[in-house]
Amino acid sequence: MINIKTINVGLLGIGTVGGGTFKVLQRNAAEISRRAGCPIHISVVADRNLALIQEVTGGTCRMTDDAFSVVADPEVDVVIELIGGYGVAKDLVMAAIAHGKHVVTANKALLAVHGNEIFAAAQAKGVIVAFEAAVAGGIPIIKAVREGLAANRIEWIAGIINGTTNFILSEMRDKGLSFATVLKEAQRLGYAEADPTFDVEGVDAAHKITLLASMAFGMPVQFDKAHIEGISTLQATDIEYAEQLGYRIKLLGITKRTAEGVELRVHPTLIPTKRLIANVEGAMNAVLVQGDAVGSTLYYGKGAGAEPTASAVIADLVDISRMHTAAQENRVPHLAFQADQLVGLPILSIDEVVTSYYLRLRVQDKSGVLAEITRILAEANVSIDAMIQKEPSEGEEQADLVLLTHQTREKNINAVIAQIEALAVVDGKVVKLRMETLG
Ligand code: HSE
Repeated sequence: MINIKTINVGLLGIGTVGGGTFKVLQRNAAEISRRAGCPIHISVVADRNLALIQEVTGGTCRMTDDAFSVVADPEVDVVIELIGGYGVAKDLVMAAIAHGKHVVTANKALLAVHGNEIFAAAQAKGVIVAFEAAVAGGIPIIKAVREGLAANRIEWIAGIINGTTNFILSEMRDKGLSFATVLKEAQRLGYAEADPTFDVEGVDAAHKITLLASMAFGMPVQFDKAHIEGISTLQATDIEYAEQLGYRIKLLGITKRTAEGVELRVHPTLIPTKRLIANVEGAMNAVLVQGDAVGSTLYYGKGAGAEPTASAVIADLVDISRMHTAAQENRVPHLAFQADQLVGLPILSIDEVVTSYYLRLRVQDKSGVLAEITRILAEANVSIDAMIQKEPSEGEEQADLVLLTHQTREKNINAVIAQIEALAVVDGKVVKLRMETLG
């Protein structure tokens, strides 16, 4: 092995992932350096908690509480940003690029929102911004989409890309518990954060599917156009009815190329139980990618955690070690397509999305009710795929009616729902969920 030089790393943040990165780099140093072609050495760590740096590193590298000194440090070749968020992390990444450092980051929020600016700055400076850890943690999904599937016209991607919500949904289904009850338990076990908003409201998944969509279709990141719904209003009843109909509800990030534009959406989705991805339970992640040549491919693994995420961070370090001497045009482009070949494809509004639907309504249990509802559906050209009606409970006069429809446009189903809700025999609001066959 020719030892060109050591890659010197400045690590920003020694929390869970930073600690995992340090540990795996140390444990597998010999293997990693045989792969990289040179040793990878953490030369400086920045964290507000200096005692923690000392504890994790055992004093084997320099330490500081000033992250800005690291991004300007002449000894540092690569900066690993593990601070998170769009605030100081953005300033640090932009400063690192300006100082000619390559960057490895796990920060999906930052890249989904400011990726265009960051990648342009990196391109202009001739440095690499690597982000395998930003999507689905330890699963090498960026490698797969950007390189492994490069022959394909990618048609769609659908992924369980948030472990917290998948854990909550699995528990709700297993135990028949409400969202609120399971969330509390998930927080107690450390699966969900104290402020779980980004996870449970689908924002984290939307950050990740935004990045995947750009790499799948060769377009700039457009997080602001993503349609986002989380799981906080999902009811255990619907999980149970879906199960009876042969479906499981998962929070999916979905992006699809259509003749009219690109769908970019995150929402609870019914998927047939017989699909492998429907059986991904607990905090695990899985991503399904459909390419025209390869067909359907599925990637499964841990989407979070110290060492799974470190696995992705270090893979990026190895890539940088191998690629940094290559001319810019010979490197893998940040968003899979050459920077001057990105096309600003339109993102479709949710009203224009075409999919199938699950509808649950509360109806009075008397003759003619079903006829009225099916008339509205027929007039709107919405075909029914399956239906269940549950007998009213003792002493009740209303029954639950659950319908699965064939594909129709979202604005069409919304008009149908408005008409159904206006019927005197229908009580309250119709529950609407989207359904994907993923076939
Ligand atoms: N909070 C994320 C999840 C992991 O629950 O999957 C980091 O992206």
